[in-house]
Amino acid sequence: MTPEDKSRIFNLAIEVLKENDRGAYTVPTKGLYPFQWNWDSCFTALGQAHFDEDRAWTEMETLFEHQWPDGMVPHIIFHVHDDGYFPGPDVWGTGRATPTSGITQPPIAGFALRQLFERSADRTAAERRARALLPKIEKWFAWFYANRDPQGQGLVAILHPWEAGRDNSIDWDEAFDRVPTEGIAPYTRRDTQHADPAHRPTKAQYDRYLWLVEHFRGLGWDNARLHDASPFQVVDPGFNAILIRGCQDLAVVAEALGNADTAARNRNRAARGLAALENLWSDRHGQYLCLDRITGTLIDSPSIGGLIPVFAAIPKSRAAAIGQVIQQQATRLKYIIASHDPDDPRFEAKRYWRGPVWLVVNYLIVDGLLAAGETEVAARVLRSSLDLIEQSGFAEYYDPLTGAPCGGGRFTWTAAMVLEFLDIAA
Ligand code: DGY
Repeated sequence: MTPEDKSRIFNLAIEVLKENDRGAYTVPTKGLYPFQWNWDSCFTALGQAHFDEDRAWTEMETLFEHQWPDGMVPHIIFHVHDDGYFPGPDVWGTGRATPTSGITQPPIAGFALRQLFERSADRTAAERRARALLPKIEKWFAWFYANRDPQGQGLVAILHPWEAGRDNSIDWDEAFDRVPTEGIAPYTRRDTQHADPAHRPTKAQYDRYLWLVEHFRGLGWDNARLHDASPFQVVDPGFNAILIRGCQDLAVVAEALGNADTAARNRNRAARGLAALENLWSDRHGQYLCLDRITGTLIDSPSIGGLIPVFAAIPKSRAAAIGQVIQQQATRLKYIIASHDPDDPRFEAKRYWRGPVWLVVNYLIVDGLLAAGETEVAARVLRSSLDLIEQSGFAEYYDPLTGAPCGGGRFTWTAAMVLEFLDIAA
C-alpha cells in the first residue's frame, strides 16, 4: 500500500466514524443497528482516539452511564426510538429509564480503558476520566464472576449467544438445541430488511434467541437467578480471554493511579482465569474449545472463539499453536481469519459468524500474536485485513474465499480497526 493509499483509507475511515456519530455515542451502522452497542462502542473509542481523544472518552462514558445497579453493562442502549430494529425495548422489558437490553457483551472496556489512558496526550484529562471509569469497570468485572461463575470455577458463562457477540456461531448449535421455542410471541424480523438474509442467522435461531429473552424477562432480569435458570450456559474461551485481558489491563491502570487494591483483585481474577482456561485446550484442534456447562463437556467446534485467547497472556506454546492454525487457514483461503475452520463441513463463507472474516477479531488476535512474538503470522493477518478494506470497503464482515463484503455497510467498528491497523503497520 502506498503512502497515498494509506492516507486515503485513513480519511475514509474517519468519515465513516463521523457519519455514524450521534453526539455522545456511535451507532454501529445506519439502519441495521441504530442504537449503542456495548463492545462496538469500546472498539469505536479506539478509532476515535486517533483524531479526537475527548470524543473517544465520551463514547465509553456514555456506555457506563447505563450500567445497571448490580454492575451489569447491557449490550444495547436504546437511546432513541427506532422501529427499524427488532427486538426493541418492549420485548426486553428491562424497566430502565433509558431502555436497555438485559444481557451483556464481551468486556472490551478494560482493554480500551488502558489504551485510551496510555495514549492520551492530555494527561490531566486522561487521569481524571480513567479514575472515574475504573470503579465502574471493576464493578462490571465483579458482576461477571459473581453472577456468571457461581461455582467459582474461574471462568464465566454466557447465557445467550448475543452475549458472545458471535450470534450464530457453530459453537452454540448443540447447546441451542436444548432451548425450546414453544410459546414465543409472534414477531417480525427487521435485520433481514437491512441485510441479505443469506448472510444472517436463521429463523430457527431467532426463535431461540427470543425464547431466552422472554424466559429471562419472566424472571424479572434478576441476575442472581438467570444463570441457574438458563438452559443455555456456555463457557466461551474467547469471551473469557477478553475478560481476563480486561482484568490485567484494569490492574495496570489501577496501579498507575495508585489504587493497589483494585490492581491486586484484578490480577488475581486474571491469574485464576488463565489457569482455568487450560481446561478448554484441545490438542487435537491445536486451539481452545467452548465448554457446555450444562453437560460438562467440550463442544467439538473449532471456531475463532478458540483462537481469541491469544489476546490474553496464555502460554507461549499455545500462542504458537494458534499461529499455526491461522497459517494453515491461509493456505486454504484468500483472506484470513475465518470465524470457523473452513475444513469443517458446517463452515459457511457468507453467514455471519459461521465462516466470514471480522476485522475486530483479527485485531484482537494480531495484538496477542505480536505480544507472543508470533510476528510473521501477525503480519499476515494485518495484510489480509488491509487488503479486504482496499477491495471491499468498510463492510460488517467479509467472505474469506472471495473477499466479498457481507452484512451491513459503512460499519463503524471496521473503520475503527482500520485506523488501528494502519497505526500498527506504520
Ligand atoms: C443483532 O440484533 O443482530 C445483534 O447482534 C444482537 O445484539
